[in-house]
Parts: sequence; C-alpha cells; structure tokens
Amino acid sequence: MRAWLLGAVAGLAAVLGTAGAASALPVSFVDGPAASAGAVALPVGSGGRLGAQAQAVDRATGGAVTRAIAAAAFSGSNGAVLTLYGVGPYSRIILIGTGAAPLDRVGLEDYGGRLARAVGEGRAEPVDVVVPEAADGVRDAAALVALGARLSSYSFPAVGVTREVSPDRRLVMRPGSGASGQGEAWTRRWQPLADGVFFARNLISTPSNIKSPQWFVDETRKAFEGLPVTITVIDEVEAARLGMGGLLGVGQGSVRPPRMMAIVYNGAGSERPLAFVGKGVTFDTGGISIKPSDGMWRMRYDMAGAAASVGAVLSAAKRGVRANVIAVVPLAENMPDGNAIRPGDVLTAFDGQTMEILNTDAEGRVILADANAWAARTFSPALIVNIATLTGAARGAVGDDYAALFARNDATASLVAAAGAAVGEATWRLPIHPSTYDDLRSDVADIRNVVEGGAPGASIGAAFLELFVPDTVEWAHLDIAPVAWRTSRAPTVPVGAVGWGVRLFDELATRAEQPSGS
Ligand code: BES
Ligand code: ZN
Ligand code: MN
Repeated sequence: MRAWLLGAVAGLAAVLGTAGAASALPVSFVDGPAASAGAVALPVGSGGRLGAQAQAVDRATGGAVTRAIAAAAFSGSNGAVLTLYGVGPYSRIILIGTGAAPLDRVGLEDYGGRLARAVGEGRAEPVDVVVPEAADGVRDAAALVALGARLSSYSFPAVGVTREVSPDRRLVMRPGSGASGQGEAWTRRWQPLADGVFFARNLISTPSNIKSPQWFVDETRKAFEGLPVTITVIDEVEAARLGMGGLLGVGQGSVRPPRMMAIVYNGAGSERPLAFVGKGVTFDTGGISIKPSDGMWRMRYDMAGAAASVGAVLSAAKRGVRANVIAVVPLAENMPDGNAIRPGDVLTAFDGQTMEILNTDAEGRVILADANAWAARTFSPALIVNIATLTGAARGAVGDDYAALFARNDATASLVAAAGAAVGEATWRLPIHPSTYDDLRSDVADIRNVVEGGAPGASIGAAFLELFVPDTVEWAHLDIAPVAWRTSRAPTVPVGAVGWGVRLFDELATRAEQPSGS
C-alpha cells in the first residue's frame, strides 16, 4: 500500500541527512590562577564585591576593574553583565553579577550560561573563567559552570548549511585552589548530561519531513552505539499482534508507520526500574479534528517528551549511574487521511480497555495509553513518569515557567518536584478531582478521550493516562506543553527546543542510586 510514497519519504530523509552534530563551546580545566593577559571572565558579588582571583586581575589593571564597576554603577546583581575591552594587559574582562549569596547548582549553571553568551560577542579568543564561590554542599562548581556554558551555546545546525565555528573560541575553567579533579568530574558526570540534553534538542528541532517514527528510532540507535543498553523496537506488525490499538489508530493516517521503542539501562541489579514514558508524536496536525494553520508548524515539537526520556537514559548510560532507568516512547505521526481514524471511532488499548476517540487531536493520551500499559506489564517499574506536550490547557493553568505536575500520591509528587527544583526545571502540581474519572466514562466504550466542555483540560488528560497504570506502580505525569519550546532566551537555553526534563530525570536517577558495590 502506497509503497512508492514510503520510498520517496525515505529518500528525502537520506538527502537531507540526519540531525547533525550541534556546535558547542569547547571547555578545558586548568589548575592555577587566571591568566595575566588575554580574556577573562570574573564573578562580581553584590555591591561590586570581588573574590581573591578577581582582585588579582584588578591589581594587574592598576585598579581599572574597580573603577569601571564604580563608573558603570555595576551592582553585581545576579545576571548583570559588563564587558570591558582593552584594559591593562587584558584584551577583554567580562564581569558577571552573582548577587548576594554563594551560588547553588542552578546559579552556577546560569553563570556559565551568561558567560558563554558574552564570550560569543567580540573576537574569537580563549577566555579564562574564574569560578564563583559555591554554596555549602555544592560540589563540582567549575564543572557546573561548564555545563551551563555548554547548554547555553547550543545551536541547531540549519538543514544543509555548515556553520564555521572558530576553534579559538573556547573556555578555560579556573576552578581555583583546592578544586582539582573538576576536569574529570566534567567528563565523567556533567558532559554526559549535556550530551543527553543536546540529543533531545536535536531530535526536537529536526523538521518533521525528516523526523518520522523510524527516523527517531534510527537516531536513537546511533546515539546509543557501544553503550550498555538494550533497545527494543516494536513495528506496526508486532504492535498489531500485541494489541496496541491506540498507537496503531493514531498512526494509521500517516504513510510513515508508528513504532514503540524501549531503551533499558541496568545500573543497579534487580531493583525495579524508573520508567520515563514520553509522548512521541513526530508531527501533530490534529488528524481529522484538524488544527488551525497558524502556528501548526510548531507541532514538530510534539515529541519533546519522548526526546527527554531518551536523552535522560542516554545521560544515565554514558555516566554509568547506579540505578535502573528505562525510556519507553510511543512514536506516531498524527495526520488527516483517507485511512485516518475518525471522531467517534473506538480503539482497544494494549491492556484491553476500549477508548472512544471523540477528538483525534487528543492523540497523545491515546498512544501513551498503550505505552503505559505495555511498560507496566513488561518492565514492572517502581514508578512511571509520563512526560508529554499533552495539552494547551496546561499553559493556561500554570503559564510558561512551569511544567504541570500530576501524581498518584503526595510522596511521588514531592520527589518529582524536588528533583525539578534542584536542577532549575520548575513544576507546579495540579489536582485530579475524583469526578474527573467519572467524566471520562463513555457510553460506547470503557472511556472517551475528551470530555465535553473540556475543562479542566490538563487534568482530564492526566487522569486518562493514569487509568493505564496499574496501582502496583507509582505514577506521575509532567505536562510540558508550556515549557518544551522557548520563544525567548533563558541563561542556559537558546530560543527553540529546551530539552526540558532531561535534567529532571537525570536528577531522579541520581536520587535513586544504590550504594556502590550492591
Ligand atoms: N500536542 C497538543 C498539545 C499542545 C498544544 C502542545 C499547544 C503544545 C502547544 C495535543 O495533542 C492537543 O492537541 N491537545 C488538545 C487536547 C484537546 C483536543 C482536548 C489541546 O490542547 O487543545
Ligand atoms: Zn499532540
Ligand atoms: Mn493533538
């Protein structure tokens, strides 16, 4: 059936290539004080306070730094940036405000992000980076600054365009005395995390004519080559045999068939794993319940949940975390077509529950139904965390600085929220009223995928997902429709794909770590 079209699509992907290696600012770590010439970046505390390394630079300029701070009324407030050119022996001195307190992890990453941005302006030269004072208990300060710088410097390679990146533009981290081993911490622990975020961002940014479900699978296999994971891919034939009616139903309007993929990383023996189950709609037109054309292009990010799940497991496998983590991603393209599902159709999910599809644009929950049920039965996880660009309503509820969080119990909600807070991925918990499950009942099937009136939209979507998780498994859900794509810059995130969730999941994996030797 329409094999010619499939061939043409495969050919196009081959011509356009894959998500290329994104450019990134190189970093190295050198013990000893900041260089006495060239370019340097310095932290400046509230009131223009300078630490020991910054004072040495100030002395080398005959006090020009102190005078510039006074003349510019530079307060040193967190995030303020002032660049001086050609002062004393220095080509450039970048002053970055760090505010009152020593910095926590997020503060250190943001410092790195701001400095990477400042480094990108002006001529290409290595920049020596003085690392700000870290709060008690925060380890790897220099490596965290490097992480922020790396994340901030991400850019998605334009399709078919090669950008020149000067090898002279790089960072030389100066951790300061008593902080050796930072280079090793970067390579072992934090660079893998940056790789996971970059992989997710590349997947999300890729246009959907390239990004088919099978393409997503191929990119994942390439990224995990040589790493200790087991990848399972279920094609449309196997999915039919297994009864994944939700995945097949959503995918049947596309010439590019759906896939279910699992990536299993085992770092902690026989512990029940954490399962990150992420929505992978490679493009969401809405299907027969078609979306308006304005802004529809952005729906190529409707697989950002799947990207975060896979990116987090990539980081876990690369750094060898002592925890068991799994990514499960249902991948489908939601298209209107002569073969597409219609409003009113009834589909049967993997666990036997029947679903009345009243709106084909509420498709994420339908493919995640199969993914949750299949993940629970196959891997017996301790916890399933769904992550999905599930509803526009989530943004209406929490704005675009939070992901909406749902959980089956308070302890699980706290666990997920705390992990997010620690890494700068903020969540806000929303409720599911018991009546919502009643509202989801259907006259012709077990449940329906939307409720008339539609409110509270984010909670209805969440409740639907929860119905496919047996009560022997803990469950949480992150609706990342508000946060997965940025229209303005943040310190460690350029405009576009955020890779939201990779850091949160990475932190959850760390918190689940088993003592070494067990
Ligand atoms: N992918 C969308 C949700 C979305 C909307 C993500 C805007 C990012 C930005 C999802 O599949 C969808 O279409 N949801 C519908 C649900 C409705 C039909 C119940 C929505 O939010 O309108
Ligand atoms: Zn969608
Ligand atoms: Mn939709």
